[in-house]
Amino acid sequence: MAETKHELIETIVERYAGDDGMLIPMLQDLQSDHGYLPADELEALSTRLGIPLSRIYSVAMFYSSFRLAPQGAHEVTLCMGTVCHLKGAARISKAICEEYSIEPGETTADRLFTLQGVNCVGACALAPVMIVDKTYYDGVTPDSALKILAKLSSPEAQDEERAQ
Ligand code: FES
Repeated sequence: MAETKHELIETIVERYAGDDGMLIPMLQDLQSDHGYLPADELEALSTRLGIPLSRIYSVAMFYSSFRLAPQGAHEVTLCMGTVCHLKGAARISKAICEEYSIEPGETTADRLFTLQGVNCVGACALAPVMIVDKTYYDGVTPDSALKILAKLSSPEAQDEERAQ
């Protein structure tokens, strides 16, 4: 990130000629720089555009693609749909939350994992389903889920990622 926060907001606002009707692309640009929408940047944007902060938050919260908190290196998605739920998704979620001291929707302190629960991902025959980044894991148990995540957090896996 070469620009200071103030410069970044200025650049983004100028890119759209200060048109607050272009709030969504502005937020997309901001998120593409930071990976999420930092609260202080949203305040600066509100001041610069002269629009209420609540309006910015209502847009940011309406679209699921916007993130208001930093994300982990790996996105862990647990299907909490009916079939996965019946097959133990809640126990898997609990195991992950306990192991990493997070709640669903949160990111681990080391910023390695962000856990989120979603509705049916359309693979009910494979329930319970966990998706890590874009890889689907089927028939997951609390133990196997923890093993999958432990493998990703191993020093070897992290070295591999740094080398990419
Ligand atoms: S309920 Fe989980 S894939 Fe359908």
